[in-house]
Amino acid sequence: MKTVKQNVHYHVGNDIETDMYTEVLNGLKVSPKKISPKYFYDKKGSELFESITLLREYYPTRTELFILNKYKNEMTEAAGKDSALIEFGSGSSEKVRILLEAMPDLKEYVPIDISKDFLYQSARALSIEYPNLSVHAVCADYTLKFEMPQLQSDRKVVFFPGSTIGNFEPHDMELFLKQTAALLKPGGGLLIGVDMKKDHAVLNAAYNDKKGVTRKFNLNVLNRLNRELLANFKLEDFSHHAFYHAEKGRIEMHLVSLKNQVIMIGDEEIEFYEGETIHTENSYKFTIEEFHKISSICGFTPKKVWSDERNWFSMHYLAVE
Ligand code: AVJ
Repeated sequence: MKTVKQNVHYHVGNDIETDMYTEVLNGLKVSPKKISPKYFYDKKGSELFESITLLREYYPTRTELFILNKYKNEMTEAAGKDSALIEFGSGSSEKVRILLEAMPDLKEYVPIDISKDFLYQSARALSIEYPNLSVHAVCADYTLKFEMPQLQSDRKVVFFPGSTIGNFEPHDMELFLKQTAALLKPGGGLLIGVDMKKDHAVLNAAYNDKKGVTRKFNLNVLNRLNRELLANFKLEDFSHHAFYHAEKGRIEMHLVSLKNQVIMIGDEEIEFYEGETIHTENSYKFTIEEFHKISSICGFTPKKVWSDERNWFSMHYLAVE
């Protein structure tokens, strides 16, 4: 029998048994109503997000992949090829493969993700492709404190692509960046993808695609609440609303109630008036200067930035010194 050499280890980084019912209900009881964007990503939601990344209007994923491919050598040069590479929200580990190509001698890769089965499966697949790489899959919510596995390398580099950082509120973003700097320690670095401020029409189109995939993605969270929390939302009674809020520098996504209505969620009643919204996501956009300023406050020294010709998306390498 042929055996495939594998070098993969599985870890649980923190206890992520959060109470979805309590959290969602609390968000719906306050005014304005809100649901965290982390609840978008059930199986259907993850598939819809995949479709979003392929839309003509949705430039971030495509642009980030272009930048990664074009500058992977400079990036891995800046990051150092002998560090352990840690990825936050690794998913299918698709983007990191571009970096791995440019760092054939990398010894350790630590993908961290909240959805365990998918993480472990992706880690196993990657480890078969890269038999000389130790893969330490860590199931954790990386926004909270989590336990890191014991590693060989002293230097660490965190890879955080996708502009997921844009989902954080300014205060939470500071806490998160400070926590990341503390994990990295002096000598370490952060390679992060950040979506940029740009023409409002381009931003608005990216979240209001013609095919209506983003609309479905936004509404799908209600299906999830119906199924997992025994709610009775009728999707046809809500509409998708996404717009760029220039003063706040963010895209806001909302679900708008099309009439006065009462929704049951478990045994609780939630009242909506016509036009009332549930705020489902913020996606902050940054100039290079803004992002440098924030990261400096949080313990990082900006070292290098890569962007596309239109300056639509940026990748920063920040060092902890
Ligand atoms: C995964 C948070 C980067 O903000 O653009 C895409 C999510 N929401 N379309 C983003 C999203 C609507 C996406 N991030």
